[in-house]
Amino acid sequence: MATLEIKDLQVQVETPDGPKQILKGVDLTINSGEIHAIMGPNGSGKSTLAYSLAGHPKYEVIGGEALLDGENILEMSADERARAGLFLAMQYPVEVPGVTVSNFLRTAKTAVAGEAPPLRQWVKDVKDAMGRLRMDPEMAQRDLNYNFSGGEKKRNEILQLELLKPQFAILDETDSGLDVDALRVVSEGVNRVHGETGLGVMLITHYTRILNYIKPDYVHVFVDGRMAEEGGPELADRLEAEGYDRFLVK
Ligand SMILES: Nc1ncnc2c1ncn2[C@@H]1O[C@H](COP(=O)(O)OP(=O)(O)OP(=O)(O)O)[C@@H](O)[C@H]1O
Ligand SMILES: [Mg+2]
Repeated sequence: MATLEIKDLQVQVETPDGPKQILKGVDLTINSGEIHAIMGPNGSGKSTLAYSLAGHPKYEVIGGEALLDGENILEMSADERARAGLFLAMQYPVEVPGVTVSNFLRTAKTAVAGEAPPLRQWVKDVKDAMGRLRMDPEMAQRDLNYNFSGGEKKRNEILQLELLKPQFAILDETDSGLDVDALRVVSEGVNRVHGETGLGVMLITHYTRILNYIKPDYVHVFVDGRMAEEGGPELADRLEAEGYDRFLVK
């Protein structure tokens, strides 16, 4: 049982006009096994929250804490956070020409586990995971995300999730741009890891349709750099029907 506790997190970015605060005091606690959906208008800071937790250097933490089992991950480097069990599936996965999917996965697994996985078992694990995600095995030999379609990139993020088996996963709009079959396959992947490992999930999304497959325990509304409301799955339906007006109109 592990806990990710975000307290009063404040983050700014550098802009040509000087620093701009994006996160204005985020509070959120996720326990192992819990699925938290985060919904909110464009530009409210959801990806900023995801990147800040993962340790992207562009985001400067100016206040608050993020504790993973009591340890402040904000003081760790990005790779230390990954080793501590944090995983981010990016909204826009980065293309890395020159590094194959296969090499990337093995390097990442070795870094996170602290030792290289036994080769034969690893090859089998990758092949099986790709099969479950209905990915063409040839994809493993292609350069990471390079010339991948939008949906292929998202599937590849979930492949990493399946193989790295983190304690907490932040999934930033993993459902955006997926066709109906891919949405199901990707959701099944998340549910499988969740069922097997008791993963805690922060699921950032704009659409209730993924919540039909991945059932959230909590739904949070994120507006202007902080959590504005929390509820159960019914809150997602209300947002779908009403939009965010009641949070925005002052
Ligand atoms: N370097 C930067 N300079 C200026 N503004 C920035 C910079 N980086 C981020 N922002 C702003 O921070 C705000 C939050 O962006 P973020 O990507 O976190 O939003 P989001 O909630 O993920 O939106 P979406 O739903 O569209 O993905 C946006 O208004 C964005 O323009
Ligand atoms: Mg975003």
